Amino acid sequence: MSFSVLKRSFSTTVGKNAIKNVVVIGGGLMGSGIAQVTAQAGQNVTLVEVNGDILKKAESNIGVSLGRVAKKLFKDKPASEAEKFVNDTKSRIKGTTDVKSAVTDADLVVEAIIENIDIKHKLFKTLDETAPAKTLFASNTSSLSIGEIASVTNRKDRFGGLHFFNPVPMMRLLEVIRIPETSDETYKSFMEWGKAIGKTCVTCKDTPGFIVNRLLVPYMAEAVRLYERGDASVKDIDVAMKLGAGYPMGPLELADYVGLDTTHFILQGWHKKMPSEKLFNTLKTVEKLVKEGKLGVKSGEGFYNYKK
Ligand code: 3HC
Repeated sequence: MSFSVLKRSFSTTVGKNAIKNVVVIGGGLMGSGIAQVTAQAGQNVTLVEVNGDILKKAESNIGVSLGRVAKKLFKDKPASEAEKFVNDTKSRIKGTTDVKSAVTDADLVVEAIIENIDIKHKLFKTLDETAPAKTLFASNTSSLSIGEIASVTNRKDRFGGLHFFNPVPMMRLLEVIRIPETSDETYKSFMEWGKAIGKTCVTCKDTPGFIVNRLLVPYMAEAVRLYERGDASVKDIDVAMKLGAGYPMGPLELADYVGLDTTHFILQGWHKKMPSEKLFNTLKTVEKLVKEGKLGVKSGEGFYNYKK
């Protein structure tokens, strides 16, 4: 991200009646990024995880990422200013394992937990019973249906998708997903909130993969198939797309970065729903790597070895 983009996201102020108290559920790669950019924009964040150890890890990851952001933002400024930025941002993030007490004054809840519909249903049922009527609900799901997730709540008019991209502090896009029941007021609040945290928002219906993943996942899958046929090596496929198409990462590098388990899970879900769509066929190589625990960057190995 360019310096000006970072600066813009940092200097964005929150409007008078805008969302101020945000609860992020799930402190993984996406959840901690969402918590970070929200706090960077001056909002209060409660980050919910299942246990203290995972919370600590999320807080530490946020600290590292904030350090990288500060290094760029305050490149020509005294170190004390960068330190203040990091500490002020961190101070706006409160960690907890108690989901019920976390949402008592929430304006917005963003769910970024495991991609399992039953677990998401259980969570949103509890949230719906506990959170005040004003609280808007959103899911950061990358492949499940927002309508299906929202179906267990009594606030479908205050429900939508807010889909972020990895790494959240760097990627400027936010996909805002409307289900037929999402009210105009809720949609407007989502769009304004996205802007307030420094993102450019696009709108999409509740269709598998929304915009980005619907195009990106089949592209990554085609790259794997190219490799599986023996047409080109992993390295050459990546070099080709970086230098020939101007992408920041090659497709196999990106699959490792997104997580091979995530890529496999998305394809598996879509294949089950749309078995006649060949682009959604699951991939033998990815399935094998996942079985071996080679999930990409996060596990230290995938198409590439990151342990060296
Ligand atoms: N936090 C803060 N800053 C970060 C960061 C993070 N997590 N990751 C990278 N950066 C910044 C740092 O400022 C870093 O500078 P530093 O070296 O001083 O720390 C700068 O980015 C450059 O990083 P790198 O030198 O490590 O590497 P790159 O120049 O290649 O940039 C990248 C990294 C921004 C990730 C770039 O490669 C990129 O844009 N890749 C494509 C990512 C992409 O397509 N994401 C979408 C995936 S799909 C998705 O998320 C949807 C989901 O549903 C699956």
